[in-house]
Amino acid sequence: MDPRSEVLLRQAELFQGSVLLAGLPADDLLGRLPDAHGWCWHAGDQAALDARFAERSHFGVNAPERGFDSAVVFLPKSKDLTDYILNALASRLAGRELYLVGEKRSGIEGAAKQLNPFGKPRKLDSARHCQLWQVTVANAPEAKSLESLAQEYELPLAEGPLKVISLPGVFSHGRLDRGSALLLEHLDKLPSGHLLDFGCGAGVLGAAVKRRYPHNQVTLLDVDAFAAASSRLTLAANGLDAEVMTGDGIDAAPMGLSAILSNPPFHVGVHTDYFATENLLRKAARHLKNGGELRLVANSFLKYQPLIEEHLGVCAIKAEGQGFRIYRAKRG
Ligand SMILES: C[S@@+](CC[C@H](N)C(=O)[O-])C[C@H]1O[C@@H](n2cnc3c(N)ncnc32)[C@H](O)[C@@H]1O
Repeated sequence: MDPRSEVLLRQAELFQGSVLLAGLPADDLLGRLPDAHGWCWHAGDQAALDARFAERSHFGVNAPERGFDSAVVFLPKSKDLTDYILNALASRLAGRELYLVGEKRSGIEGAAKQLNPFGKPRKLDSARHCQLWQVTVANAPEAKSLESLAQEYELPLAEGPLKVISLPGVFSHGRLDRGSALLLEHLDKLPSGHLLDFGCGAGVLGAAVKRRYPHNQVTLLDVDAFAAASSRLTLAANGLDAEVMTGDGIDAAPMGLSAILSNPPFHVGVHTDYFATENLLRKAARHLKNGGELRLVANSFLKYQPLIEEHLGVCAIKAEGQGFRIYRAKRG
């Protein structure tokens, strides 16, 4: 059981009604709170929840339409995303209870201040290195549209400017990552056919290759519903047509690919992100056709080359700069 769920269950009598659990972990909590429903934006967690608790969790970037009497927000990593989720729920909870739970190391103490606009927050519990906060919504806000929180920037590419639209919580919100910038400079001579942008975020790589190689089929894949929604906005803003999908890891990707491009997930201490990247390197060959290529950017200190050589084939360093490397390997 996730420690945040354990903290909720210490006060289980508060959560017996129709409570909405936003950003919930894929653990047993729905089993312990029979009238609760989930709202999830992580495709892997949603698949796990669906398998165990069919129809009890809603997936997407908007709160479920079904009514709820109170809501618990599991503190997201990003402050902007927390604001969006709290606003969306508080707008529907006038006079009712909104809770925020999170780990101390994730900054729950400071994040609790984000409840101030709605009423007087109070700390209900502190245990398992987590805190649980509650506010009775005295000032229910107007719901903000997600699009109104989007940030836009423009990249001067050789083929013409590319607009990038990112939503709260999406990697490198509102600016281009340095690693992605290096990969954008090294998208030449890709095999033509079906290209995949793995871990697409706001869709900058996928949109750039579709712009550069318009006759190729391009698929963008991310585990996060806000990233997929951003990628759709980026493609639409540039009049580009490509498939965007949510799914957890390379297993969710199509087969018969000509190239996989990625600035793969990497966060110190977050085990699932290492797993997603290592799994990509191990299984890329299954998803590439003969002669297909894996091209990725990674921090120079990450030792991906041996893993790529073990599972795919000879791996060259195509470029290096500012602490990043571009790796390139072909399926023989
Ligand atoms: C380093 S970011 C790169 C984003 C984007 N390609 C760019 O260059 O700005 C990695 C992305 O991988 C996504 N990701 C993390 N785990 C994943 C998984 N298991 N399956 C698919 N995507 C994942 C994250 O949501 C994030 O958008």
